[in-house]
Amino acid sequence: MKSVTILGATGSVGTSTLDLIEREPDRFRVVALTANCDVGRLAEAAIRTKAEFAVVADEGCLPDLRDALAGTGIRAGGGAEAIAEAAASGADWTMGAIVGCAGLKPVMAAIEQGGTVVIANKEPLVSAGDVILAAAKRTGATLLPADSEHNAIFQCFDSARPERVRRIILTCSGGPFRDWTIEQMRDVTLEQAVKHPNWSMGAKISVDSATCMNKGLELIEAARLFPIAHDRIEIVIHPQSVVHSLVDYVDGSVLAQLGPPDMRTPIAHTLAWPDRMATPMAPLDLVGIGRLEFEAPDPVRFPALRLAREALDAGGARPAILNAANEVAVEAFLKRRICFLEIAAIVEHTLSCYDPAAPDSVDAVLAIDAKARILAGERVQARQ
Ligand SMILES: NC(=O)c1ccc[n+]([C@@H]2O[C@H](COP(=O)([O-])OP(=O)(O)OC[C@H]3O[C@@H](n4cnc5c(N)ncnc54)[C@H](OP(=O)(O)O)[C@@H]3O)[C@@H](O)[C@H]2O)c1
Repeated sequence: MKSVTILGATGSVGTSTLDLIEREPDRFRVVALTANCDVGRLAEAAIRTKAEFAVVADEGCLPDLRDALAGTGIRAGGGAEAIAEAAASGADWTMGAIVGCAGLKPVMAAIEQGGTVVIANKEPLVSAGDVILAAAKRTGATLLPADSEHNAIFQCFDSARPERVRRIILTCSGGPFRDWTIEQMRDVTLEQAVKHPNWSMGAKISVDSATCMNKGLELIEAARLFPIAHDRIEIVIHPQSVVHSLVDYVDGSVLAQLGPPDMRTPIAHTLAWPDRMATPMAPLDLVGIGRLEFEAPDPVRFPALRLAREALDAGGARPAILNAANEVAVEAFLKRRICFLEIAAIVEHTLSCYDPAAPDSVDAVLAIDAKARILAGERVQARQ
């Protein structure tokens, strides 16, 4: 039996992970599940899966969690230390599916245990890539990518012969505003931005997909995970979200992974890896899909692509600043405090006024993250 812990168990990725695990109760044993404050959903999942430990990051929710778990024998925890304890619970397989840089310390705690750590939560890898990779190397932890694009690349990339890879091609749906002019995007509503054409996801990543910052973060994530020069990672718009990414070899062969736009396929790949497991996904109906289209991205209408590329190339603290400012700007948009086009503008402004030295530890990354959040927050205030 494989023991599993899910960090961010109540979210979109967490729920997809639980769906797979609950289909095979003889194969997986749940050690710990975490959430921020969704006590109801967390307690239900913990009881259904007979988890040992359930944790809310928001300590104020702990009394409710204790009540919800009373008499079940499931231990309840609250606060950052309890989340770290859950992450370090020694599970064979840990899913990192917290949203944002809030997942950094929990992911690091999981990596310290060794074992397999699955990265859906891309923001820590963007902000603290070097620190995370160094920790994984030191502890022997195996990092597996759950993001559909990176999982696709992982399945196609010949890591024994990286020098034979010519390019990585990251596909991008283009989001709900792929065909919109900048003029049209001025009036984007929150409801339009969170409605992704192909994927059902949490609010933050849905907005990131609409601005294309998600693809920018994924560009940086790909550069962290795969040994290839930055300028050999390309982005191509693929509106159908069927080809999840491609690897181009020196002999002209291009390997791609295809599948339905459902996170259960890449998550299942990491759950069973190096084996495979069945999922409820219907076979891909290529004739029904009919057309697979590809087009060039537009960094003018979607400046987040340019900002992320520049941050990746500059390195050091730039990706952490990009990510922190984006988290603040997206949060402000979700609270209807700024308009859609201001998200990238706030990120660009924050990058322009803060340029610290490269971080070499988790604490240094978090200090940069905190300062960038203050600067971005001031910009949000100034825009209102
Ligand atoms: N959704 C996708 O299809 C998808 C695909 C690829 C990658 N990802 C990445 O996976 C991560 C999760 O995305 P998602 O769409 O699943 O997000 P989501 O639906 O918003 O879920 C986020 C999860 O994190 C928890 N959480 C939020 N803030 C927290 C905090 N400060 N401390 C601890 N836990 C916290 C939430 O708990 P509550 O429910 O209690 O708030 C929830 O369990 C993101 O980094 C995203 O970029 C997502």
